[in-house]
Amino acid sequence: MLGIAIAGLGNVGSGVARLLSNQAELIAQRAGRPVTIKAVSVRNKKKRRDCELPGVEWIDDPRALAKLPGADVVVELMGGAEGAARELAELALNNGKHFVTANKALIATHGASLARAAEKNKLQLSFEAAVAGGIPVIKTMREALAGNDVTVVRGILNGTCNYILTRMELAGLSFDEALREAQEKGYAEADPAADIDGHDTAHKTAILAALAFGAEPDVKTIAIEGIRRLTPRDLQFADELSCRVRLLGVARLADGKLEQRVGPALVPKSLPLAQVAGALNAVLIRGDFAGDLMLQGLGAGGEPTASSVVSDIIDIARGIFVPAFGVPGSKLKKLHLAAEAHAAQRYFMRLLVADQPGVVADISAILRDEHISIESLIQRARSTESVPVVMTTHEASADAMKRATAKIARLKTVTEPPCLLPIEE
Ligand SMILES: NC(=O)c1ccc[n+]([C@@H]2O[C@H](COP(=O)([O-])OP(=O)(O)OC[C@H]3O[C@@H](n4cnc5c(N)ncnc54)[C@H](OP(=O)(O)O)[C@@H]3O)[C@@H](O)[C@H]2O)c1
Repeated sequence: MLGIAIAGLGNVGSGVARLLSNQAELIAQRAGRPVTIKAVSVRNKKKRRDCELPGVEWIDDPRALAKLPGADVVVELMGGAEGAARELAELALNNGKHFVTANKALIATHGASLARAAEKNKLQLSFEAAVAGGIPVIKTMREALAGNDVTVVRGILNGTCNYILTRMELAGLSFDEALREAQEKGYAEADPAADIDGHDTAHKTAILAALAFGAEPDVKTIAIEGIRRLTPRDLQFADELSCRVRLLGVARLADGKLEQRVGPALVPKSLPLAQVAGALNAVLIRGDFAGDLMLQGLGAGGEPTASSVVSDIIDIARGIFVPAFGVPGSKLKKLHLAAEAHAAQRYFMRLLVADQPGVVADISAILRDEHISIESLIQRARSTESVPVVMTTHEASADAMKRATAKIARLKTVTEPPCLLPIEE
């Protein structure tokens, strides 16, 4: 028997309890032994739970689970990079318990030190559910692609943002209307900031980068931009350019230097990531031998996420022990960051300008001075009010593009801050 102790019985925790109970026989067969919940810990014991836990001990302080006799694995489903979650992780790994979590904030922030603690104590640290909910992306990268040199990972890693962008594009909703709809449907939290401002995607991107490149997760160095300032007009222009707008997490290694960024980008409709609609998640991984691989599925929700948590538990029951980030914790590298100026790519810029002669000439001159060449330009019909001007550029460095955009924003004829988005090839 494998004994487990669960901290947190919310969406994911109660999903794990239901899954372990509903599929107990199947899991026992596949795991080679029964998996039994020994104890749980929550904040409020009186709350109604969407699961049954006969004979399970309820423990007030989650940290006590780390020393619970009979528990082989501690499963942390509370959330948060610090506090109870971090303390429990450290205590469990230093008290002989394997540690499974769905907590991206914890792993993105303290993953390297936890991996080293697991290695030192010959225990397993697992977090399949921390990135893209029910999609088995961690195991795919760590195990199925173990022989590949992975050079780039791109992901649509936040279902709330993808739902909002899809509704803005297809139904012409404003950002606020699409967010309200996402909240009504239960996709977005009451406080949606972590999702729409890109922080949730950044945590997941840091974990994917660590797995891809055998490096310490480093969320602090990710350039993060969310989707708040996008308008339906931006998405319509993207459509005219045969592209869709997606919030992407991108991690790339070039010449030993790491580039990590999170932000909205134009994705040509011909690419598989552009086809990912609604609340789905997807991850595209480029391996040198495997080629491009895209995994798509439900990136959140109690049941898909529980499916990933339970897969980690079954691995432990089977005696499958793998370094958390694919290489021993003591060998995780600290990668240097790529200077932004090296990352050349095409850009989309949408401007709102006064309808006056010479405006486009002024903008073109600024771009020329930064050695940026325009690939295409869309200018709308004459109007007494401001008119949109949309252009795409040939490949340009991020630094040059930022300098040019700042100068363009200062032109008197440019009536609102430019919208600048990279075009992902
Ligand atoms: N929801 C998803 O779709 C999803 C997907 C992937 C990953 N995750 C990750 O999974 C984790 C859990 O998410 P969730 O959506 O299940 O959260 P949730 O519904 O808010 O549940 C959190 C649970 O943790 C308990 N808890 C919080 N602080 C505690 C403390 N100090 N001591 C004891 N219990 C405590 C809460 O107790 P009470 O019930 O008594 O308040 C609750 O049962 C997070 O790290 C999240 O990022 C979630």
